[in-house]
Amino acid sequence: MFSSYRMGAITLPNRIVMAPLTRRRAGAGFTATPMMAAHYALRASAGLIIAEATMVHRTSLGYPDSPGIWNEEQIQAWKLVTDAVHRENGRIFLQIWHVGRYSHPLMQENGALPVSASAVAIEGVINTPSGYKTHVIPRALETAEIPEVVAWYASAAANAIQAGFDGVELHGANSYLIHQFLEDGVNRRTDTYGGSIGNRSRFLFEVVEAVAAEAGASRTALRLSPSYIKNNMSDSDPVKLYSYVIDRLNDYKLAYLHLTEPVLPVDHLPQYLKKVAPYYRKIYKGTLMSCGGYTYDTARQTLEEGIADLIAFGTLYIANPDLVERFRRGAPLNTADKDTFYTGGEKGYMDYPLLNQPV
Ligand SMILES: Cc1cc2nc3c(=O)[nH]c(=O)nc-3n(C[C@H](O)[C@H](O)[C@H](O)COP(=O)(O)O)c2cc1C
Repeated sequence: MFSSYRMGAITLPNRIVMAPLTRRRAGAGFTATPMMAAHYALRASAGLIIAEATMVHRTSLGYPDSPGIWNEEQIQAWKLVTDAVHRENGRIFLQIWHVGRYSHPLMQENGALPVSASAVAIEGVINTPSGYKTHVIPRALETAEIPEVVAWYASAAANAIQAGFDGVELHGANSYLIHQFLEDGVNRRTDTYGGSIGNRSRFLFEVVEAVAAEAGASRTALRLSPSYIKNNMSDSDPVKLYSYVIDRLNDYKLAYLHLTEPVLPVDHLPQYLKKVAPYYRKIYKGTLMSCGGYTYDTARQTLEEGIADLIAFGTLYIANPDLVERFRRGAPLNTADKDTFYTGGEKGYMDYPLLNQPV
């Protein structure tokens, strides 16, 4: 847990990573704020911080008050964050994101439909600025539009590097646009982006290549969630799909591959999907990061068994800015307050106590 790790262009002082965490506290124009800079700087002792999912384009809005990285104002605002983290000797990547169908006309300019691989809606409701609304059927991207969407990711990556991030993590997980292209429960396309596994992963690899060309492969990472079933995600043969994708990723020499373990009950899933890191460790030759439900003990065991090189913590990092120090001392941990995850403001964001410090 406390040994350093050489990851591409940078050295991490420990194996403890802050997972990307959407907190919906961005300012006007989808900009990072001084409060966000202070929040991340407090967590700079992490081996690596992965800053929250950040929109590559205005059409990516699915969570009000989340930040963006497509314009100059947003770049300047993120500089406050990266400077604050670097001043505290930290390292910070930015997770870049397009939500695809996880949006609603009420969050789009001119009430446009959200876009996806295919015109297949999520069942259920989405939280919009006007309250909970039923998901709409998204618009399938035209084949000719796809290069422009790939270019959004590339320019977001270039902007992130300009804003001082040490690298970018592509959000290929948790039901968003890249994931929507990968899995055939959503992707019903009949062009070169649909059908075979090679075709369904074409969008992902085009994005990986375009982003690596901007940021450098050693500063480009990818998050995947092979067992994620929320928001109606499904695939007819996930073992084959993710084995293919992860094997091919070996060619790219990325900073790391970040895999999330399932967080919902998974009794119905095949054994390999219940714990994905051991399975894919055998296929992936580069740096592997694992996230999902880890405690100090299970993280340490996973590292000792060589199943992962780095462990990311989500909920524990919400509540414990000094998680590394608490782990080191075996100190008690603060408990995260779910009610303030997405509510904006300082409460539940700036007020978790540090060790030996009053609130
Ligand atoms: C409040 C909250 C926000 C999250 N936001 C993101 C996000 O922006 N991007 C992402 O990939 N995962 C996101 N996640 C998932 C976490 O990164 C992590 O995978 C999950 O919390 C499981 O890890 P844990 O058991 O250590 O909390 C979020 C989770 C929570 C609780």
